[in-house]
Amino acid sequence: MAAVVGCISLFLLIIGNCAAKYEPNWDSIDSRPLPQWFDQAKFGIFIHWGVFSVPSFGSEWFWWYLHKNMTDYVNFMKKNYPPNFQYQDFAPHFTAEFFDAKEWTDIFNASGAKYVVLTTKHHEGFTLWGSKNSWNWNAVDVGPKRDLVDELSAAVRAHSDMRLGLYHSLFEWFNPLYQLDAANVFTTDYFPSSKTLPELYELVLKYKPEVLWSDGDGDAPDTYWNSTGFLAWLYNDSPVRDTVVTNDRWGYGSICKHGGYYTCTDRYQPGHLLKHKWENCMTIDTKSWGYRRNAPLKDYLCIEQLVSSLVETVSCGGNLLMNIGPTHDGRISPIFEERLRQMGQWLRVNGEGIYNSSAWRAQNDSVTPNIWYTSKPQEKTVFSFLLQWPDSGAVVLGEPVATKGQTQVALLGYGPLKWESVQPKGMKVLLPTLSVNQMPCQWAWTLKITGAA
Ligand SMILES: *[C@@H]1O[C@H](CO)[C@@H](O)[C@H](O)[C@H]1NC(C)=O
Ligand SMILES: *[C@@H]1O[C@H](CO)[C@@H](O)[C@H](O)[C@H]1NC(C)=O
Ligand SMILES: *[C@@H]1O[C@H](CO)[C@@H](O)[C@H](O)[C@H]1NC(C)=O
Ligand SMILES: *[C@@H]1O[C@H](CO)[C@@H](O)[C@H](O)[C@H]1NC(C)=O
Ligand SMILES: *[C@@H]1O[C@H](CO)[C@@H](O)[C@H](O)[C@H]1NC(C)=O
Repeated sequence: MAAVVGCISLFLLIIGNCAAKYEPNWDSIDSRPLPQWFDQAKFGIFIHWGVFSVPSFGSEWFWWYLHKNMTDYVNFMKKNYPPNFQYQDFAPHFTAEFFDAKEWTDIFNASGAKYVVLTTKHHEGFTLWGSKNSWNWNAVDVGPKRDLVDELSAAVRAHSDMRLGLYHSLFEWFNPLYQLDAANVFTTDYFPSSKTLPELYELVLKYKPEVLWSDGDGDAPDTYWNSTGFLAWLYNDSPVRDTVVTNDRWGYGSICKHGGYYTCTDRYQPGHLLKHKWENCMTIDTKSWGYRRNAPLKDYLCIEQLVSSLVETVSCGGNLLMNIGPTHDGRISPIFEERLRQMGQWLRVNGEGIYNSSAWRAQNDSVTPNIWYTSKPQEKTVFSFLLQWPDSGAVVLGEPVATKGQTQVALLGYGPLKWESVQPKGMKVLLPTLSVNQMPCQWAWTLKITGAA
C-alpha cells in the first residue's frame, strides 16, 4: 500500500497539476473551488473607459443608441459635430494625456479596494491595449498611442494587496465577422476564433489578471464562444491558474448559473444570503458606467448609500464592485475621487468587520431595521453594522444571543460599550453620547460583539 501511495505521489509530483485537470464542460468547470482571496477581498473598483468616454454623453452605449437613431443622440451629434462625423472619428480624441496610472492606483488603494477591474474592450470593440487582432481600433494605434492596460496593470501590481482584474466583452456590436456569424445563427465561428478567443488568450498571457470579468454574450451560446474550452485552459494551464477568478457571463444562459462567481444582473442586490459566491457590480453615477459630462449631482450616489450597499452586499455573501468612469483625457473626476477616498476613510475604521469576514446565520436584524451582520467564526466574533445612529442612545439587537460575563461589545474606532439583556430575546447596547468630532466615523457604525452565539 505504502509503495502504491508513494508511487502515486511521485507520479503527481512529475505530472504537476494533472490531478486537478478541468475538462471543457460546465460540470467540471463549475466544480473548481473559487480561490479564497476573492471572498476575503470584498471590495473592488470597476473602471469603464474607452472611446465612449470622448462624447461622454448618455452612456457607454453611445454608439449603439446613435446607430438606433435615438433622438437625444442624433441631436447631440447634429449640434456638436460636422455632418458625416462617425463614431469612429471620436477615437483620435481619446487622448488620455492626464492619465497617470500611479495616481489612479493610489486613489484606488486609498479607497480600501482589494482589486481593480478595467474595461479592456467594451462592446464597441476598441481595445485599450495594442491587440494584434484589433487593427487600427486600439489605444496603441489610435488615440493615446499608449498601452493603457499595461500601464494600469503595472501600477496595480505595485500595490502588494491589490489585484488586477480585466473586463472583456465577448461580442462587438458592429464587427462584420460577428454580424456574419449572427446572420448564420451562430453556426459559424469566424468571430470567436479570429477575435474573441485570441484576445482572451493574449490578455491572460500578457497581463496575468486575477479576475477575468467576461461580458456581452450577444445572445450567442457558450458553445459558440468555446467558453468551457477557454476556461479549462485558464484553470489548468494558464499562468494565473491557481489564483484567477472569473464571473458567470460566458454565453447566453450561463449568467447566474455557470463559471466562477455570480453577477446575475447589473446592480445585483438580492437582500438575502446566496449559497454561491456573488458580486454586486454597480456604478456611482446611477445612469451610466462610462463618464457623462452632463451628469447632475443627484445622479451620483452619496457616501451613505455606497457604504450601505457595501454593508448589505457583504452581509449577504457578496463582493461590491463599485464603478467609476474616467474622462477621455485620463482624469478621475473629483466627485469620484471623493467617493473613493470616503469609502477608504470608512473602511479604515470598520474594515475589520468587512475584509475576511463571513456571512453570519442572520443577515439583518429581526427587531431593528437597517442593521446588517457579518462574522468571523474563528474569532467567535459577530459584527453588527448600524446604518443609522439611534436617537435614543441605545440600540436593540434581536439576533445575537448574549451571555452575562461572557459577551463583550465594542464600537469600532471607539472602545467598549455596556449592554443589557432584553426579554424575550436579544440585547440592548448602550451607545455613548458623542460629539461629531468624537465619532469614529460618520456614515455607518460597527459593533464588534464577542462571546455571543
Ligand atoms: C438611422 O437613420 C439613418 C439616416 O436617416 C438611416 O440611414 C438608418 O437606416 C437609420 N438606422 C436605423 C437603425 O433605423
Ligand atoms: C494602501 O492603503 C493602505 C490602507 O489604507 C495603506 O496602509 C498603505 O500605505 C497604502 N499603500 C500605498 C503604497 O499607498
Ligand atoms: C475550444 O477550446 C479547446 C481548449 O482550448 C480547444 O482545444 C478547441 O480546439 C477549441 N475549439 C474550437 C472550435 O475553437
Ligand atoms: C485576510 O486573510 C488573509 C489570509 O488569511 C491575510 O493574508 C490578510 O492579511 C487578511 N486581511 C485582512 C485585512 O485581515
Ligand atoms: C431584512 O432585510 C430584508 C431584505 O432586505 C427585508 O425585507 C427585511 O425587512 C429586513 N428586516 C428588517 C427587520 O429590517
